[in-house]
Amino acid sequence: MTVAAASVAGGGGCRHLAIIMDGNGRWAQGRRLPRIAGHREGVQAVRRVVEAAPGLGLDVLTLYAFSSENWKRPADEVSDLMGLLRHYVQHELDTLHRNGVRLDFIGDWQALKPDLVRLLETARDKTRANTGLRLVMALNYGGQGEIVRAAKALAAEAVAGTLSPDDITSEMLEARLDTAKVCGGLPLPDAVLRTSGELRLSNFLLWQAAYAEFLVTDTLWPDFDGAALAAALDDFSRRERRFGGR
Ligand code: FPP
Repeated sequence: MTVAAASVAGGGGCRHLAIIMDGNGRWAQGRRLPRIAGHREGVQAVRRVVEAAPGLGLDVLTLYAFSSENWKRPADEVSDLMGLLRHYVQHELDTLHRNGVRLDFIGDWQALKPDLVRLLETARDKTRANTGLRLVMALNYGGQGEIVRAAKALAAEAVAGTLSPDDITSEMLEARLDTAKVCGGLPLPDAVLRTSGELRLSNFLLWQAAYAEFLVTDTLWPDFDGAALAAALDDFSRRERRFGGR
C-alpha cells in the first residue's frame, strides 16, 4: 500500500502506535560502520516517521528510545545515545512545535542527567498546548519498573489509609502508570511494531499492550520510512481485534 492509499484509509483504525526501534547496530555492522552510525541513521528514521504519522491517521506515536536495561551497554554507546537524544530535541523542537506536535516522555526520565531533564521539560512545556501528533518518547523506560512504581503508589495510599487494598482494581493501577500520568493521559496502544525481525516485547508497555496487535517487519530501523509505516498500518487494518471476546 502506498503512503497516500494508507492515508485515505486513515491508518486502518490504528490511532496509537508504539514502536520498538530495533536494528541500528546490525545496520551499521552490515556497512562496517561503528554502532553510533546506525543510531544516527535511526534518528533520521524517527524524523521520517514523525512526519508521516499524522497523514496516516495516527494520533499518538510512542517510541522506545532508551530502555532501563540499555544502561548495560558499553558506556560510550550509552553516552552516544544520550547525545543523540539531546541533539534531536535541541534541533527538532522548533519544527515539531511548528507542526503542532506535542512531546511527552514516559519512564524514569527524570533520573537522567539534570541538564537533559531540563531540556526535556522545556520541550514538553513548550509543546503542551499543541493539538497535533502526540509524540511520546520512552526514556529510561521498562514496563516492569513502571508497574512496580504504580504498585508502590497504591501501597503508599493503602498505608496512608486513603484506600483499602481490597478495593484495588486494574483501572486504579492503570491510572498510576506513566502513560496515565502524562498530561491528559494516553489511550492504550492499538499496536506495537518491532523492526528488524525480532519477536520480543523487551519490557515495553507490558501492561498497556495486553490487547495490542503485534506487528513485525524485517526492515532495520534506520531503513524505516513512511512507506514502511504505511505497510505496517495496512497489516494492522487486516487484523480482527477481539479483546478476548469472539
Ligand atoms: C536498538 O537498536 C535501538 C536502540 C537501543 C535505541 C533506539 C535509538 C534510536 C533510534 C536513536 C535515538 C533516538 C532518538 C529519538 C533521539 P540496536 O542497537 O539494539 O540494534 P541491533 O539489535 O541491531 O544491535
